[in-house]
Parts: sequence; C-alpha cells; structure tokens
Amino acid sequence: MPDFRCCEDGPRLVHWEIKRRHWLLVGACGWVLMLLMVASRFINYNLRVPDDYSSKAESRSWPELTIHTVKPQRPALHSNNVSTAAVLSTVPSDWHSVVEKRLDMLAAVCKNSSLRNYTHTPINKFLLDRIFVCDKHKILFCQTPKVGNTQWKKVLIVLNGKYSKVEDIPEPLVHNHKKNGLPRLSSLKENEIKERLDNYFKFFIVRDPFERIISAYKDKFVKNPRSEPWYKHDIAPAIIRKYRKMRQDTEDSSAPRHARGLRFEDFMRYLGDSVGQKQLNKKFRQYVIHWITYVKLCAPCDINYDAVGHHETLDRDAPYILKAAGIDNLVSYPTIPPGITRYNRTKVESYFSGISKRDIGRLYEHFMGDFELFGYPRPDFLLD
Ligand SMILES: *[C@@H]1O[C@H](CO)[C@@H](O)[C@H](O)[C@H]1NC(C)=O
Ligand SMILES: *[C@@H]1O[C@H](CO)[C@@H](O)[C@H](O)[C@H]1NC(C)=O
Ligand SMILES: *[C@@H]1O[C@H](CO)[C@@H](O)[C@H](O)[C@H]1NC(C)=O
Ligand SMILES: *[C@@H]1O[C@H](CO)[C@@H](O)[C@H](O)[C@H]1NC(C)=O
Repeated sequence: MPDFRCCEDGPRLVHWEIKRRHWLLVGACGWVLMLLMVASRFINYNLRVPDDYSSKAESRSWPELTIHTVKPQRPALHSNNVSTAAVLSTVPSDWHSVVEKRLDMLAAVCKNSSLRNYTHTPINKFLLDRIFVCDKHKILFCQTPKVGNTQWKKVLIVLNGKYSKVEDIPEPLVHNHKKNGLPRLSSLKENEIKERLDNYFKFFIVRDPFERIISAYKDKFVKNPRSEPWYKHDIAPAIIRKYRKMRQDTEDSSAPRHARGLRFEDFMRYLGDSVGQKQLNKKFRQYVIHWITYVKLCAPCDINYDAVGHHETLDRDAPYILKAAGIDNLVSYPTIPPGITRYNRTKVESYFSGISKRDIGRLYEHFMGDFELFGYPRPDFLLD
C-alpha cells in the first residue's frame, strides 16, 4: 500500500515509486516471457534429439564388434522357404541375377586391397544404431535416408506387430524409436547382435552418391524444416565457418536471404574434406546420416548383406526384397510412380555447374567407395 505519511513531497515520490514498480513488473514479465521462449525452444530441441539418440545411450560405449560371418555361400533366397520360382513370378525374370551380380561386384570391390580405405568400416554403436530389427521374420534393415526408408520402416513396424496396416501408422511415430516397436540392433547384447547378423535376412537401399547429396542438401538446408531446426541453426553455421571462402558474404546482412544460408558449394567443400570433416561430424552426431558414405552407414563389406536395392530401380527391387525376405504375402511396398526415382543427369549437372573441378575431384574421392561398391559409374562429365 502507498504510504502518504512520509514527508512533504511524499505523494509525488510515492507516485513515482508506483510507476517505477509498475515498469519493473512489466520488465520482469518481459524477461520471464523471453526466458520461457528460449526455454521452450531449448526443450523442444532437446526433446527431439534424444528421441533418436539419447545422451544416456551415447555415453554407453560399445565395443567394436568383430563379426566373423562364416558364410561360405550366400543363400540364394531367405529361409521362409520361398522358392526362386515364386520370386520370379512377380519381378522380372532376370532380377534375381541382377541382384546376384550386384552382390558379386560388391564382394569383389570389398576384396580389392587398393580400395580398402574406402570400403571398410568398424562395426560400432553408430553403425548398430542404423540397423533395425524384425525378430518375428528374421530381418535386419540398414537405414540409408532419402531412398524411401520411411516406407521400409513402416513395413517392418507392421511386421513387428505394433500396427496391423502400413496406413494405420501415424507419420510422426515412424521415426519415434521409443514408441514404434522397431528396435535397433544396438539395443541388444553382443551375442544377440552376432546371432542376428549371422542368420537374418539383411538389406539396404542405395542411390547414386551425387544425387543423394543433392537430395540431402535440398531437404535439410534449402527447405530448412521447422521441425529440425538444428540443420539451420547449428550445422549450417558450423560448416560455413569452416568452409566458406568469402567470409564477409556471411556477415553481410544486406545479402539476399537465400545467400545467407548454407550454399551448395560450402556443403561440397565440407563433404570433400574427408579428414577435416571428422571433427565436425562428431559434433553433428547422428544427423550426418544424411550425407556420410553408405560404407560408414551400413558397413557393406563387413556385414554380409543378402540384398542391396537401388533407388533407381526401386519398382523392381522393392517387390524382389519382400519376396526374398519371405514377407511379400504379408505386406506390400506402396506403388512407386514411374520415373520419379530415375537418375537425372541434368539436375546433377546444374547443381555442380558452379563447383570447381578440384572440389568435385575431392568429393568423388570421398565417395569413391560408394561409387565402386554399388556399381555407379564415375561421373566423367563432371570430372574430366
Ligand atoms: C522347404 O519346404 C520343403 C517342403 O515344404 C521342405 O522339404 C524343405 O526342407 C524346406 N526347405 C527349407 C530350407 O526349409
Ligand atoms: C582395384 O581397384 C582399382 C581402383 O578402382 C582398380 O584400378 C583395380 O583394377 C582394382 N583391382 C582389382 C583386382 O579389381
Ligand atoms: C590407407 O590409410 C592409411 C592410414 O590412413 C594410409 O597409411 C594408407 O596409405 C592408405 N592406403 C591407401 C591405399 O590409400
Ligand atoms: C531433371 O532435373 C531438371 C532440373 O532440376 C528438371 O527440370 C527436370 O524436369 C528433371 N527431369 C526429370 C525427368 O525429372
């Protein structure tokens, strides 16, 4: 309560005091609001991060496993006793041999000692986090983003029994690994992991390495999805700081909005720097799955995969894989509109038109393992 007894100019002072308190209150409210806003961003940020890769899980260190897959011969098809003839009835008759040829090429490149540094990787926690498990049907699926992975995850969620139809799975749940009933290989004990790696049907999907990184760039740095603020706020600035040549470009706030974000050339320089990238990638944690090599994601030379699908021929690879894994009578892969997965050279040329030959050369070398292992031709039109 205001006190009027004080002194002569009391009322004026008191009035002043009230005003002061009023403004203090307004100021305090402002601060609280701002703190709340900051906190909510922080909470939101942190809520989403652990959903994929909790700090608890991270601190648990994994011994690097040595998997001795003693499998002299690849079983032509998976156990569920699907005969080759049955497979051939819905996929082109030569598709089994296409997949076999791919696996033969993969095995040959894996053995090539001059490519060893590009083709082998340790089997560690990061890698085991990428592989999803369906025990009921004995399937392991290594996740490689930007090739229709969400659909495969849905297929496996249905197979694991949490939902009965692919259409019933709420979209946000697909990537919520606490709730979707799709365990990662890393959640199992070492002997359980080995047992599954030796006996389950294992597959993953790849695409042309340069188209893949264009797709990752567009999706994560041009579209800047609001639900994934870390690409714009943490990853892009870190790459720009280290790899942008003209630093003043970054600080010039009069620059057009699009020029202030991560440019394709910055991203390419970062990707071409195999050595320098390592340090940044540790900070970027699991988000690097969108652009690190397939070798590092799935260890194709260190795990004996049964099938490697190609995004470019997904319309034939998807039904083939379902058949080969013995699950084609249980689930189907959604129809793929013709042409959308086809390699687009015009697009690749236009993205790389502003990139120096030297940077493209480094980039190619960084991804050389992926090109060679999966039979993607060296993009001579960019390199020579
Ligand atoms: C496949 O099924 C046939 C007959 O149903 C059976 O004789 C054969 O042992 C099975 N093969 C495998 C690998 O399970
Ligand atoms: C190993 O890879 C190199 C580089 O691609 C190639 O020149 C060489 O012919 C390969 N060696 C074998 C045995 O395939
Ligand atoms: C592979 O990497 C090691 C260590 O980084 C290096 O000493 C060796 O020369 C590399 N080998 C090839 C064939 O590039
Ligand atoms: C290939 O990419 C270019 C440039 O992005 C685009 O204009 C064109 O429509 C694409 N072609 C096909 C067949 O998708």
